[in-house]
Amino acid sequence: MAIRIIGTGSALPKKQVTNKELESRVDTSDEWIRERTGIGSRHISTGETLVSLTAQACGRALENAGRQASEVELLLVATCSPERGIPCAACQVQSALGADRAVAFDLNAACAGFLFALNTACAYVEAGIYRNALVAGGEVLSKIVDWTDRGTCILFGDGAGACLVEKCDRGGLLGFVQHSDGSRGDVLKCDSRPLKNPFVSLEMEAPYVQMDGREVFAFAVRQVPESITEVLHKTGIAVEEVDLFVLHQANRRIIEGIAKRLGADISRFPVNLDRVGNMSSAAIPVLLDELNRQGKLQAGMKLVLSGFGAGLTYGSCVMEWQ
Ligand code: ACO
Repeated sequence: MAIRIIGTGSALPKKQVTNKELESRVDTSDEWIRERTGIGSRHISTGETLVSLTAQACGRALENAGRQASEVELLLVATCSPERGIPCAACQVQSALGADRAVAFDLNAACAGFLFALNTACAYVEAGIYRNALVAGGEVLSKIVDWTDRGTCILFGDGAGACLVEKCDRGGLLGFVQHSDGSRGDVLKCDSRPLKNPFVSLEMEAPYVQMDGREVFAFAVRQVPESITEVLHKTGIAVEEVDLFVLHQANRRIIEGIAKRLGADISRFPVNLDRVGNMSSAAIPVLLDELNRQGKLQAGMKLVLSGFGAGLTYGSCVMEWQ
């Protein structure tokens, strides 16, 4: 028994910001950004919230699956840019959707968040606790990015993606692996509120995203192929049998490096980061939804999904599309 995806959805803010527009804000160029990252534009919120985007993506996934919000039993939202400390984004999305029966909570594993949430949903469904789950990844990273730091502000975008999963007898999610390495947490970080009470008042160290780009690059190109190889070995599937590698959309050069290490042709690695930038936990479900709506996912196709990011966290899964 496993789970399969029966509907996908996504939502992006209306405003699209091109590299050219960023040239007027920081010392950068369209050429530099495209060459180093593959990114050409990204969507940035001018009013859309994490909850409005995620609820919209979830609504579209339900519509795509032909299901009602009232049928959802588990609602997981992966995010590292929630609107509020409390309540969690998933409870806000539950209310916006009217998914009254769903148990709702958040999960933060940064750019690996959606993948970790999908695996968590699988564990609940396999254990027979819930029959279905709405799994979303949403981010409004533009509010935690330092817009004066050209090393990071050019990379990120806002958006949300979701999928509805349910129990199936064969195919679907065939296996997954997950890893965390907290010892390298400083490579990519963003502090939340500092300790402040009547007895102590500490300064915030890094109120915005701070990143050692080279370290992140090296980590992704080394560890992601290892985790993909691990999950393929675990499920007895060869690299050649995989139709599509749906990877976290951080940087085109990272994806090319991973393809090379796996010995897989780059044509099997779909990308949308040229249009949407790096949307952290929203990256994989938004790309999956685009592929689904473009009719590029056919029954029986084997997909590898792989997420990686701050934590450090990384993981991969293999699924047979149905
Ligand atoms: N425009 C122009 N010049 C820039 C920019 C910019 N936007 N950003 C940095 N530079 C400059 C630097 O200041 C530096 O100048 P210097 O040589 O005069 O000091 C020069 O470009 C080279 O800087 P590096 O940081 O060494 O550039 P690098 O080739 O490593 O590219 C990048 C930077 C694109 C961030 C790269 O390290 C990378 O892709 N890392 C992966 C990080 C990533 O994708 N993070 C996403 C979040 S994590 C995740 O999703 C997994």
